[in-house]
Amino acid sequence: MADVQKKLIVVLGATGNQGGAVARRFLQDPQYAVRGLTRNVSSPAAQALAELGAEVVAAELDDVESLKKAFKGANLIYSVTQYWEPFFRPDCRAKAEELGTNCRKYAYDVEVQQGKNIADAAATVVDTLVDNGFLVSTLSNARKCSKGKFQDLYHFDSKADVFPDYVVPNYPELAAKMSCIHTGFFTTSHNILPDSYFAKQPDGSFQMRFPCNPDKLVPHLDVNRDTGNFAYAVSQMPPGKAYMAGQYLSFRDWAAAWGRVTGATITYKEVTMDEMVAETPDKPCGREVALMFAYSSDPGYDGGMELLKAEDMEKAGIDCPITTVEESLSKMDFSKYLSK
Ligand SMILES: NC(=O)c1ccc[n+]([C@@H]2O[C@H](COP(=O)([O-])OP(=O)(O)OC[C@H]3O[C@@H](n4cnc5c(N)ncnc54)[C@H](OP(=O)(O)O)[C@@H]3O)[C@@H](O)[C@H]2O)c1
Repeated sequence: MADVQKKLIVVLGATGNQGGAVARRFLQDPQYAVRGLTRNVSSPAAQALAELGAEVVAAELDDVESLKKAFKGANLIYSVTQYWEPFFRPDCRAKAEELGTNCRKYAYDVEVQQGKNIADAAATVVDTLVDNGFLVSTLSNARKCSKGKFQDLYHFDSKADVFPDYVVPNYPELAAKMSCIHTGFFTTSHNILPDSYFAKQPDGSFQMRFPCNPDKLVPHLDVNRDTGNFAYAVSQMPPGKAYMAGQYLSFRDWAAAWGRVTGATITYKEVTMDEMVAETPDKPCGREVALMFAYSSDPGYDGGMELLKAEDMEKAGIDCPITTVEESLSKMDFSKYLSK
């Protein structure tokens, strides 16, 4: 009975970084009930979420009917789609080859379809959603924002081609209840690209090596600490706006912060895209991320879009704490890089 008045937020990817943070943040507010979606309700991460008080429900992003069922009664939805799992999974690589495409484009196609499935399913519950009830994780449209220069930055366009570009013309009522949340570089991304973040030099120092202007400001997000606070703050804003979650900092300053935290000496070197690809063991991954760094240099990770930030919500009287890059790094263990 006590739950009758609660607003229900359905969180996609609830066992992952973004969705997990969002689920945990809304669970702290007794006004909300949280339904977390996963493919496997008995995984340790799903069980841990259930222990925190979430209802954990099975759904598959590739199966629109499962999403329609899981969205029943939703007052809010937090949407996040997946590029890197269909990109890296060996069976997906095999499938891409079978289809005669490359794994980067294959993962684009999967993520676009996942996004469309989410939008199609969310449209069936648009009447129960609150005014700002469709909170979607996305990125800028590289193809459009670069005026055609970046044609194949797939993991950006696979989000933007749906949120907002598919939703707006197809579901105007849903679009009217949507907020687009762009997420900055995760401060944990060095786990995917250790050789570019922390290249050990012969003298024992480190070099960060990206095809990105050292002084260009790019956004960085402590995904596990801050995505929940950010989405929770956005939910208190009027609908129809677009945001960037994260702290803007240049990569030169990111490297300096890492040096202060670890006591190691590190410099930043701008390299070419080809150099980054050569230095990345998985070549398609190297190409996809090299394009991202080059795009982050010009026109910028946010594509030059005017996006609202945490400080804008703070100005509107809404609490939106953001962890700085240095704080975020200071909570991590870098000993495996330092002792190599
Ligand atoms: N790394 C970065 O710097 C960065 C920056 C900005 C944006 N991003 C984007 O962030 C996204 C990933 O978000 P994340 O880090 O939160 O993900 P994550 O931690 O890898 O978690 C993935 C979540 O999605 C669920 N999931 C995956 N495939 C699914 C499917 N087919 N059906 C249903 N659920 C599925 C997983 O649930 P189960 O496994 O429990 O089913 C899990 O909860 C990517 O699209 C990436 O491009 C990354």
